[in-house]
Amino acid sequence: MWTSITTWIISNYTWFVALHVISIIAWMAAMLYLPRLFVYHTKVAPGSEASETFKVMERKLLRVIMTPAMIASWLFGLAIIAANSTYYLSSGWMHGKLLLVVIMTALHGVFARWVRVFAQDGNRRSEGFYRAINEAPTLAMIAIVILVVVKPF
Ligand code: HEM
Repeated sequence: MWTSITTWIISNYTWFVALHVISIIAWMAAMLYLPRLFVYHTKVAPGSEASETFKVMERKLLRVIMTPAMIASWLFGLAIIAANSTYYLSSGWMHGKLLLVVIMTALHGVFARWVRVFAQDGNRRSEGFYRAINEAPTLAMIAIVILVVVKPF
């Protein structure tokens, strides 16, 4: 049973990589956009019409795009690893990539918690804080793509 699954994944390898890349593009787009919404959200008064609009945008971005795209990225990525686990799990570049992807996933969780904090008008952090945080997923994404495409070690 397992052999037929991995054989099927291998014979459709390029489709899995394509679906994986589509998923990570959506995930990264949301991970880079959400902290930007937080930046603008800090500039409006809690309870204002603008603040209520930002709450809807943040909640929909998280639930409709960011979380489903993260799940799809993991599913397609793990499926590719499962099809050739000896190679991938013994590759230094994949170890580095998975470490950064786990950090990206933890950041996702923190952003999700901040969506809830803003939804309860509980944010106490500054605009500058969210501008700085916005760089974290950007830097992780750059390092991940270099590791998986260049495979430097
Ligand atoms: C979520 C967990 C993830 C897993 C388990 C995973 C796993 C994989 C695997 C096994 C491949 C095939 C690599 C090869 O054969 O060369 C791959 C390809 C790729 N991954 Fe991921 N990945 C994940 C997340 C990400 C993220 C977050 C990014 C970008 C920010 C990313 C970017 C890419 C790219 C660009 C490729 C295509 C590389 C190429 O064809 O040259 N992956 N991934």
